[in-house]
Amino acid sequence: MTNQLTGRTIFITGSGGVLGSTYVRRMLAEGARVIASDLPGTRADALQAAHGENPDFRFYDLDVGDEDQVTGIFARILADGWQPNVVLNNAAITGELLMGAGKPFPSFADTSVSDWERTLRTNLTGAFMIARQMDRDIVGNWPCSLINVASMYALNGPHHQIYEGMPFKSFSAYSTTKAGIHGLTLWLAGYWAKRGATVNTIAPGAVFNNHSEEFQRRVGELIMAGRMAAPDEIADAMLFLCSAQAGYMTGQLVNVDGGFSGW
Ligand SMILES: NC(=O)c1ccc[n+]([C@@H]2O[C@H](COP(=O)([O-])OP(=O)(O)OC[C@H]3O[C@@H](n4cnc5c(N)ncnc54)[C@H](O)[C@@H]3O)[C@@H](O)[C@H]2O)c1
Repeated sequence: MTNQLTGRTIFITGSGGVLGSTYVRRMLAEGARVIASDLPGTRADALQAAHGENPDFRFYDLDVGDEDQVTGIFARILADGWQPNVVLNNAAITGELLMGAGKPFPSFADTSVSDWERTLRTNLTGAFMIARQMDRDIVGNWPCSLINVASMYALNGPHHQIYEGMPFKSFSAYSTTKAGIHGLTLWLAGYWAKRGATVNTIAPGAVFNNHSEEFQRRVGELIMAGRMAAPDEIADAMLFLCSAQAGYMTGQLVNVDGGFSGW
């Protein structure tokens, strides 16, 4: 299908990551106007290098955990003449980001309150603040849609043994926030329904990002499809949720996990 997203102006947080950058590329190819955002840094730079010349692309520095920045974001976008009708709460502290380069991954017993709170601040409070600002600046003014991003580890626990000996782990705050975000979806879906806004959650499965063959084997055994996802396979579902064809969906959790949650 071509131009699935013509007429859609999509605002995305955390756009420079593995999935975010894939969404941006695919959305532009499908005719969307894309308002990308992320923390300043190499991921943001790479995204701007890839798409900065495209007139359908804009980029804003945005820390979703910073209340002042979030409060002003839609005013800045609207003042620049762009009118988002899809908002994608994609930014998150993931395992890789929590750990940072070379830092050993903490056990549950050693998890600091500051790592826990940093994760909640980005993954949940940030998503809440984006949604609240959408309520203030967009909802009711024109039809729009919010998509929150959960995970295969939102409503299913991780198989901890697959992380033994791996440099990364699943972590408790991540699962907690990813379960919580669907609560925000359910609460808002009914709250916004009469104001012309839909709200859904997408729960991606395990996405391949240069993982070792051993990790791919272990996680593949837990997935009906027998393998990790390519980022484009998550994007296929995301593009549908961003499209006008998803207009009758609200308050839903869409698992895109190769059957991990279906056993
Ligand atoms: N990759 C997977 O296997 C997978 C699986 C399930 C769910 N997800 C979810 O999909 C989304 C994207 O994941 P990804 O794999 O691209 O992750 P990623 O770590 O590659 O990207 C996350 C992005 O969020 C940004 N970010 C972090 N803190 C931020 C903040 N305070 N403000 C703004 N941006 C911030 C980072 O800079 C980064 O660009 C996340 O919500 C993640 O939890 C990913």
